[in-house]
Amino acid sequence: MAHEHDHSHEEVPAFALEVPEFEFLRYEVAEGIAWVTFTRPKALNALAADVLREIAEVTEVIAEDPEVKVAVFTGEGKAFVAGADISEINALKDVFIGREFALAGQEVMNHIAALPVPTIAAINGYALGGGLELALACDLRVAAKKAKLGLPEVGLGLIPGFGGTQRLPRLVGVGRAFDLILTGRHVPAEEALALGLVNRVADDAAAAARELAQQIMKNSPVALALAKEAVARGADVPLPEALEIEADLFGMTVTTHDMREGTAAFLEKRAPEFKGE
Ligand code: CAA
Repeated sequence: MAHEHDHSHEEVPAFALEVPEFEFLRYEVAEGIAWVTFTRPKALNALAADVLREIAEVTEVIAEDPEVKVAVFTGEGKAFVAGADISEINALKDVFIGREFALAGQEVMNHIAALPVPTIAAINGYALGGGLELALACDLRVAAKKAKLGLPEVGLGLIPGFGGTQRLPRLVGVGRAFDLILTGRHVPAEEALALGLVNRVADDAAAAARELAQQIMKNSPVALALAKEAVARGADVPLPEALEIEADLFGMTVTTHDMREGTAAFLEKRAPEFKGE
């Protein structure tokens, strides 16, 4: 089943996607998992504008690829992503352009957060600044033991601008977020686990992400998408409204083939076969 999207095949199935050529990342789909690997290790995979553009493009590809059940983001070399590109930031002078810079990066992170499939950041090394912000836009984070995570922006005279001041406190609480944002320190993987900043720590982040993805993929794809939607939409509204969102989406599950199959399989003491319908 493993395959790479490849334009060289003559016989392209009707549903085949046009996958753009990427310069700063690699896109592969294998056994239901989309792997997005950042491939600019010499610059520690820093998020230059061109890289951000490619990430926005790859999220569109993922969203439209029916073969993708889970997406994993990871980096080549010793970094996951070492942040936004500091040389590009250094050239910024105008308050409006600075604001646009942050908004453009936030939009890319929002594209990741809005993906319909579960997403995992496989943090293989440094996840700093914009790199941690990208990981925070994913649903789950697994870190290699040697990984270091942080928001060091204040040491550059900046603040986090790709969502870090907002997604980090929502994930770990305001007090813990202040620790990271005000010190700018690099947090080792084990501490990140204790803080609730990552979900798993392992020798090999990609292997751990694959394992997690395989566990997730045993479940109903429709239920996964609705569960993700419930958590995401509920996070930003008052509880009574959030509970209504949950009830609406729960209501939708009972009309699905997957729910018929999942509950019947339980009652018949057999494994379910989900169709994602
Ligand atoms: N932007 C641009 N280039 C970067 C970069 C970044 N964020 N991070 C690393 N690089 C470049 C380095 O300049 C260096 O380039 P050269 O080989 O041309 O000199 C190369 O990547 C390798 O990096 P180092 O030599 O620094 O590697 P190291 O092992 O000594 O240190 C590190 C690793 C501790 C991660 C260090 O590179 C570092 O501190 N990087 C910057 C981390 C950072 O501050 N990130 C926040 C950026 S601002 C931001 O992200 C704002 C926002 O919220 C949107």
